Amino acid sequence: MVDRLAADHAAKGLTLRPEIETAMRTVPRELYTPGLTAEEAYENTAVVTKRRGEESISSVSAPFLIAEMLGQAADALGGLAGRDVLEIGSGGYNASLLRELVGPSGTVTTVDIDPEVTERAATRLEAAGYHDVTVLCADAEHPVTPDRRYHLIIVTAGAWDVPPAWRDQLTGDGVLVVPLRTAGMTRSWALRRSGDRLISCSRRQCGFVPMQGDGAHDVRYVDLADGVHLRLDEGQRIGPAAVEGVLAQPRQKAWVGVSLPPRTALADLDLWLATRLGDGFAVLSAQQEAVDSGIVAPSWRFGAPAVLDGGTLSYRSALRWTGRRFDLGAYAHGPEAAAAAGRMAEHMRAWAEADCPPSALHVLPAHTPDGDLPDGAVLDKRHSRLVLTFTIEEKETR
Ligand SMILES: C[S@@+](CC[C@H](N)C(=O)[O-])C[C@H]1O[C@@H](n2cnc3c(N)ncnc32)[C@H](O)[C@@H]1O
Repeated sequence: MVDRLAADHAAKGLTLRPEIETAMRTVPRELYTPGLTAEEAYENTAVVTKRRGEESISSVSAPFLIAEMLGQAADALGGLAGRDVLEIGSGGYNASLLRELVGPSGTVTTVDIDPEVTERAATRLEAAGYHDVTVLCADAEHPVTPDRRYHLIIVTAGAWDVPPAWRDQLTGDGVLVVPLRTAGMTRSWALRRSGDRLISCSRRQCGFVPMQGDGAHDVRYVDLADGVHLRLDEGQRIGPAAVEGVLAQPRQKAWVGVSLPPRTALADLDLWLATRLGDGFAVLSAQQEAVDSGIVAPSWRFGAPAVLDGGTLSYRSALRWTGRRFDLGAYAHGPEAAAAAGRMAEHMRAWAEADCPPSALHVLPAHTPDGDLPDGAVLDKRHSRLVLTFTIEEKETR
């Protein structure tokens, strides 16, 4: 498993820190995935441990993603040894890795809203020999241990907002690693505290089971066709009538006309599009069968940027490869399809011509006046104002 995720890191241009590699080779994942064979326990995928109806609400996260998020934390803090860590979302596996990483002078507290999860986590941590992890049951939207401060808070459920409790429980320059949804797309952000704000130092593409409790924020879906949906977030209002039959209309295509290398961080391009395509922005997702049948050809079937504008739908389409390099494209259906595909391609060309700038995120309190915000695209949430920026200077490895 670790060999595979090390290769996955290398393919993405990331470095697997040696102490994280050692921790992952040390903690027996099968202790946290009972009922699975050893082969299954060491697949590089998430293992769902609890469902509500069709929805997964608890899982042992995918090892490659755990390694990436621990890497984000360790890079931001210059190592995890001796740190005090709060993990939000328990299970035991990640807490054991954190226990290995902080060493004898650090501490690990893990909290989950679900008593079944905390009971199981406590039992398994004990069985694995990690006797000094504190396991708590609470809604981590609110302060968990009000008198304590942590160098690192690592959230392992998908959040829509950053409640004040997370910032306030950090030390002065502590780091929050959180899978945060903006415009329907989730990125794991490493955010360093600076007074009452948080500023990103890295981001990774990811997906997570949703946050429950007072911070829960439902995603809404509108059906486009059998197995194809638009995902709506941030209060977007697109009703079924607005998209009825749109995919049945002829398709127009626009290529950007660039030649990009394989490691180009398209997760940043998708955020760039979200900040530029206007009010009709949404995320298109599709079942594999719908892609196979040719109804849609999205850039990524789990979430491609899309926009609905006056009855015309456009979305970022699958890449066109020439040897080891690729071009970007857009598909559109509807009365203004050719113009809409061309517009989306134009926004992508602007990103490519700006040297594929990385995204950065600033999280400020909800009461921050407009004049105190950095320049960028503002997303207002319940507790915070998020500002997404794209700057060439902040470019990092991915
Ligand atoms: C992906 S699982 C955590 C995986 C875990 N870190 C591991 O090591 O395998 C996400 C967990 O977040 C928990 N959760 C969701 N909302 C929460 C909240 N508001 N406060 C605390 N825990 C929450 C869920 O009950 C679920 O068990």
